[in-house]
Amino acid sequence: MYDRFNRKINYLRISVTDRCNLRCVYCMPAEGVELMSHNDILSYEEIVEFAKKAVDDGVDKVRITGGEPLVRKDIIELIKSIGKIEGIKDFAMTTNGIFLPKYARQLKAAGMMRVNISLDTMDPKRYTEITRLGKIEGVFAGIEAAKEAGLFPIKINCVIKKSRLEPDAAAVAEYCEANGLEIRYIHEMNLETGEFSIVEGGEGGDCKNCNRLRLTANGDVMPCLFSDLSYSVRELGIEKSLVDSLKNKPRSGTSNHSGKFNNIGG
Ligand code: 5AD
Ligand code: SF4
Repeated sequence: MYDRFNRKINYLRISVTDRCNLRCVYCMPAEGVELMSHNDILSYEEIVEFAKKAVDDGVDKVRITGGEPLVRKDIIELIKSIGKIEGIKDFAMTTNGIFLPKYARQLKAAGMMRVNISLDTMDPKRYTEITRLGKIEGVFAGIEAAKEAGLFPIKINCVIKKSRLEPDAAAVAEYCEANGLEIRYIHEMNLETGEFSIVEGGEGGDCKNCNRLRLTANGDVMPCLFSDLSYSVRELGIEKSLVDSLKNKPRSGTSNHSGKFNNIGG
């Protein structure tokens, strides 16, 4: 698939839920967000059907996101189904890691290749401040579980305010270095004002080379994180929602008032 600016689109990010067990300050308000109703959430059948079509059309990289993907019921069933689709060369998940001790092995067995785990600080108190509900030992246990399961390379998503030299980020970098983990620095973004920038060590935020499409938990195909454009799979059908997204994928992002990180999945 190519868009009108001749960018090759081969990366599909699938948000499977808007729910999360944490409430990170940069992602959700303390009281949580108004959740999508269950009827609006795509079924696993609908997600798999969409993924198959996208892979037929040239997608070879798939990432499962949320919210927190591991809070969705029977998530392993979905991973198994997507893991069976032929033509996916890179199959990954973004998770806060807390449920990896329970799921890492099953993820690996289902065909998941690797995980990105969020960790912004090494300080237990700061971690609980940032996530409002999390305990940092839980993330470390999750990272261990991912290692034991062989979900390599394990990448750490570290949200920074301004610089990778901030004390929190520097400590995370040191930990990653010592433990064979790759770190990616993600500048804290504001979707509504369109303040976004390139992910250091990753690929996101680089409009000229953007290869992504997103499928939200309620079935909107979104061609750009920083745009309000969205094409409903249920209203338009898979084919048209894909074609329209490609046709209208903006040259570069501006701002997004219609979505939040917890349903678009970053
Ligand atoms: N800015 C940058 N990244 C964000 N994430 C969530 N909210 C934001 C935000 N406002 C990303 C973080 C986290 C992942 C799940 O989503 O990188 O690790
Ligand atoms: Fe949950 Fe991730 Fe949002 Fe934190 S950033 S509240 S872990 S979805």
